[in-house]
Amino acid sequence: MTTILDGKVASAAYKQVITEEVSQLVAKGKRPPHLAAILVGNDGASETYVASKEKNCAQVGFNSTLLRFDESISETQLLEEIDKINKNDDIDGLIVQLPLPKHINPDKMTDAILPSKDVDGFHTFNAGQLSKNMDTFIPATPYGIVKLLMHYGISTKGKHAVVVGRSMIVGRPMSILLSSSNSDYGNATVTLAHRYTDNLADITKQADIIVVAVGIPLFLKADMIKEGAVVIDVGITRVPDETKKRGFRLDGDADYDKMFDKCEAITPVPGGVGLMTILGLLDNTLKAYKAKHE
Ligand code: GUN
Repeated sequence: MTTILDGKVASAAYKQVITEEVSQLVAKGKRPPHLAAILVGNDGASETYVASKEKNCAQVGFNSTLLRFDESISETQLLEEIDKINKNDDIDGLIVQLPLPKHINPDKMTDAILPSKDVDGFHTFNAGQLSKNMDTFIPATPYGIVKLLMHYGISTKGKHAVVVGRSMIVGRPMSILLSSSNSDYGNATVTLAHRYTDNLADITKQADIIVVAVGIPLFLKADMIKEGAVVIDVGITRVPDETKKRGFRLDGDADYDKMFDKCEAITPVPGGVGLMTILGLLDNTLKAYKAKHE
């Protein structure tokens, strides 16, 4: 029997805990945690993510602020906006939604965020702390994934985990977490595969756990995994589909239907990793708030 790693179920359980913690803070007369998001331009997928982040903040009792800017905004102007939020004591966490327009350097923006407010964990300082196994903000998607594995009691110790995709948002931090000495989600033997990996299928077929984050619909095929693998699908791509009311469907990076019976466990798309990512962000925002208030 294949287990569906349901992000809705797992994130609801974790969100319940956050909601209770926030209501206790508010009952004591304290202000709730506050997350701010910067959105530049009007990329469709980014709009969806940011709307979902706002909705989830409201659900757990956080305050949230969305700052929208036209895609013509300059780097200097955006740096000034980030600085304003850095100096605003009523805001605990700030994210700059990626991707940004081509004329804006994303590293420059994420490194302008105060590390103590960098709830995405993208600042060079926080990324360095993560690589040293120090307590820090863990990027939301890999953080959500390890929480999903923990919720379903999937052990990583001694397992061979193959991460496909080496982005700074998902693959790279994911490989660091799974190979870390953390007894809850680490101690795996990790292979980090990417676009130049030779004979990828030979490697993925050896994996006990596969995290696929390449952004190519149905990239991971059923014949690329072994019987009993755990598959974590990070991809979510809009694929034109006239049979759907909104004109597109959402496909993951894994060929879910064809590999389902072969897997010990698998995440659905949508309803898997995406919901856990938002949870990771909420958790980091609460962490930023507590660091300031306790
Ligand atoms: N774009 C895609 N994923 C993310 C994320 O986790 N954080 C931000 N800021 N932008 C993203």
